[in-house]
Amino acid sequence: MRIDLLSIFPKMFAPILNESILGIAQKKELVEFFSHDIRDWSDNKHNKIDDKPFGGGPGMVMKAGPIVTAVEAVEKMDDIPSRLLVMSPQGKRFDQKMARELSTEKRICIICGRYEGFDERIFEVLEPEEVSIGDYVLTGGELAALTIADAVVRLIPGVLGSGDSLESESFDNGLLDFPQYTQPFEWRGIKAPEILRSGNHALIEKWRREKAIEKTKARRPDIFKD
Ligand SMILES: C[S@@+](CC[C@H](N)C(=O)[O-])C[C@H]1O[C@@H](n2cnc3c(N)ncnc32)[C@H](O)[C@@H]1O
Repeated sequence: MRIDLLSIFPKMFAPILNESILGIAQKKELVEFFSHDIRDWSDNKHNKIDDKPFGGGPGMVMKAGPIVTAVEAVEKMDDIPSRLLVMSPQGKRFDQKMARELSTEKRICIICGRYEGFDERIFEVLEPEEVSIGDYVLTGGELAALTIADAVVRLIPGVLGSGDSLESESFDNGLLDFPQYTQPFEWRGIKAPEILRSGNHALIEKWRREKAIEKTKARRPDIFKD
């Protein structure tokens, strides 16, 4: 998979993308990241890409011209067409289902906003998908783009080691993950559930499912499917 990230703060990406699982995914050549500075497509000598909003009001708005030119130029950097996403608190809410769906794409291009957001005309011209990572407002789209990249890339087959199971994770099958325990068996007087060292895999499986159901009903009845 190829992921292009467009931002006016492109240096924010590398520290996250080059560490841990995302770094390993790049080394395994299962994903390639390309960060682009939208200012490179500014239409003036001061590299300005924002201006005051028509109609007045606080803050600045990202101009349509540099963003659309940047996306058009980046698109031509590879023959594979991109699935184009714009980070926006007004967009469709990102979830595990969307992450799974995006993990099957060959190429994704993510546009990150700043300031008060974008000149609305970018949506008319580029017809991107607006995606939100939750009902709160970040200062910029970079952390949202990294969140999406992280959730998507770990689902690409081969990215996680065989020891990391994706099957029982939270949100799959409408359930949160079951509670986990590790050594020592007793810590600060609290024992791990005895059943987990019984060696009876069928019973352990049953216990885990029951606990996952219990937890989901208590914390997230909205995702629980009977
Ligand atoms: C300060 S926000 C602009 C918010 C905009 N004025 C509004 O109320 O919808 C600047 C940028 O951060 C990004 N952003 C902020 N919150 C986000 C969220 N919840 N999900 C995805 N992107 C977000 C978007 O790219 C947005 O253009």
